[in-house]
Amino acid sequence: MTAPLPLVIGNWKMNMLTAQACEMARSLVDRLSTVDGIEVVIAPPFTSLHPVAQIIKNSRLSLAAQNFYFENNGAYTGEVSLEMLRDVGCDFALVGHSERRGSFGESDDAVNKKVRRAVQMGVTAVVCVGETLGQRKSGATSNIIETQLSKSLAGLSGEDISKLVIAYEPVWAVGTGVHATAAQVVDVHKLIRMILRERLSFPEKAAARILYGGSVGPENSKQLLREKQIDGVLVGAASLDFESFCAIINSALES
Ligand code: 13P
Repeated sequence: MTAPLPLVIGNWKMNMLTAQACEMARSLVDRLSTVDGIEVVIAPPFTSLHPVAQIIKNSRLSLAAQNFYFENNGAYTGEVSLEMLRDVGCDFALVGHSERRGSFGESDDAVNKKVRRAVQMGVTAVVCVGETLGQRKSGATSNIIETQLSKSLAGLSGEDISKLVIAYEPVWAVGTGVHATAAQVVDVHKLIRMILRERLSFPEKAAARILYGGSVGPENSKQLLREKQIDGVLVGAASLDFESFCAIINSALES
């Protein structure tokens, strides 16, 4: 089996007005025009998805939604469906980010509904899991990851799993400037692979790509991406800065 291309996703969170988002997208298209052997995805806020999609059309960049509602349409004021997001060009969607779980009460059950919808729509779900600092300190990391995975991936087949991306984003590393060490990430990525295979009984070839996210920047990306267990990175703050994001992309290219 050939190794998947390294995957670098920039999660812009609630940042950038349309003009800034378009400028960043144009710069990235330009920078990536001569690059091969990597997959780069950007997740702008909803308001910029459509114009950014026009800019990155036929480029090496793909588009992700940061969130969506699991129903396709109906009386759900304020929500956006995956069908709508796919319609504007999203091939990826983040699901269960810790900021959504923590600040908006997103449950594992809602995450599961979203993942199943993504599978059905042919959109690559990037399923985020990760423990809090307290959970890590009390030795609960593996239990937390196993619970999040088993609930979030309930009802999926091995084939579904092979199309997913799982992002290990320890809550204590997201937006804190404190990143997990490569050794800590490798341990959890191995744990995730073991859980998928042995606890959830997905066949070995149903290998989801597994990313790390949490204070990834140019200064630590090389060390992280050098590890065979780490298939890519999910980048927050550093993806808002063109040169920093490009430096991370370069680390992935060198890996
Ligand atoms: P930071 O890189 O800002 O820590 O954010 C990580 C993240 O939440 C990506 O989804």
